[in-house]
Amino acid sequence: MKKVIYPKIGGPDSIQIIEEKLDNPGKNQVKVRVHRAGINFADLMMRQGLYGSNPDFPFTPGYEVSGEIIELGDDENRLEIGQRVIAMTGFGGYSEEVIVESNRVVPIPDNISFDQAAAMPVTYGTAYHMLVHLGGLKEGDTVLVHHAAGGVGTAAAQICKAYGAGLIIGTASESKKEFVESLGMRFVNRDKEDFVEVCKNMTGGKGVHQAIDPVAGKHLTRSYDALRNGGKLHCFGASSAVPNEKRSLIAAFKMWRNTPKFDPMKMMNSNKSVFGVHMGRMEDEEIFSNHLADLGELMKQGKINPIIDSVWRFEKVADAQRHIHNRKNKGKVLLDFSPN
Ligand SMILES: NC(=O)c1ccc[n+]([C@@H]2O[C@H](COP(=O)([O-])OP(=O)(O)OC[C@H]3O[C@@H](n4cnc5c(N)ncnc54)[C@H](OP(=O)(O)O)[C@@H]3O)[C@@H](O)[C@H]2O)c1
Repeated sequence: MKKVIYPKIGGPDSIQIIEEKLDNPGKNQVKVRVHRAGINFADLMMRQGLYGSNPDFPFTPGYEVSGEIIELGDDENRLEIGQRVIAMTGFGGYSEEVIVESNRVVPIPDNISFDQAAAMPVTYGTAYHMLVHLGGLKEGDTVLVHHAAGGVGTAAAQICKAYGAGLIIGTASESKKEFVESLGMRFVNRDKEDFVEVCKNMTGGKGVHQAIDPVAGKHLTRSYDALRNGGKLHCFGASSAVPNEKRSLIAAFKMWRNTPKFDPMKMMNSNKSVFGVHMGRMEDEEIFSNHLADLGELMKQGKINPIIDSVWRFEKVADAQRHIHNRKNKGKVLLDFSPN
């Protein structure tokens, strides 16, 4: 079978595809024939050696796949051969076949496509964890969403709508204005407008109930400033460390240097909270599987439905990642590993 590898730190051109023979699944494992693998921004950071929690090079990225079970390991009796599933691979998902622990595999309902299934876990799981689980999102709340047109951003907008949020303010590049507005958000041009000012102006000077910030650096301080008294800020990424497809240690250093160190006394006096969120490092796996179950319900009710930007044959993985570096995507980008 074929799989994608990152041989060493590098740009999209460094990515290779290799042949490998996979073993049989072991105790409580299954083998999945992958149809779709989700690309996450973290995969781009890992390739540049700026992520911090990936395996040593060479390795295969890919947190999440959809596909069908083609082999069962010993003692596996919950799942069946031929069953359509989502598998949370941790790493290694950019492959034609993967072996996964069966407790990291969830059956896909008949009415959900392989595309929708692979687009859901990381983006919706993360947005739901922040806004609903930690943030207690409720009707009428005001929410600030950055990367509003991206994978997590579009998921966050739909979750906000599902919970009856009053106002969703979404920042993105200029070309995405119409798209962001079509998701029910007040668009803010990330390069030209001051989102703190917009948040204050649109909430009678108070600020928003929740802000989700995957940018870090100085941007995180501004997201904190956009909160009202009692507001909650979620720090969940550092995209400012990766300005484009070329690795920049200066940008990474600037991000780290400018990321605020919050003062608990100031936070106390304004009743503001800051959450750090890294789903890949969540040790309590039950939290994530409960989120997936809740999200499955919302999907069944038609309240959420992953927006797919594009699906690329896996041989085009470098172009697919470049597409994200170039800020072109509106929604989730997927790799197609299905048999031709
Ligand atoms: N902590 C966690 O558990 C967790 C989980 C998932 C994702 N994340 C983080 O959430 C963010 C979004 O992830 P995603 O996978 O959904 O990706 P995404 O938002 O689809 O990423 C691409 C979009 O991000 C925006 N962007 C902003 N700064 C960028 C930059 N320096 N380079 C390229 N694009 C940039 C671009 O849109 P605009 O220019 O239009 O804004 C681009 O279209 C990432 O920072 C990611 O690391 C964290």
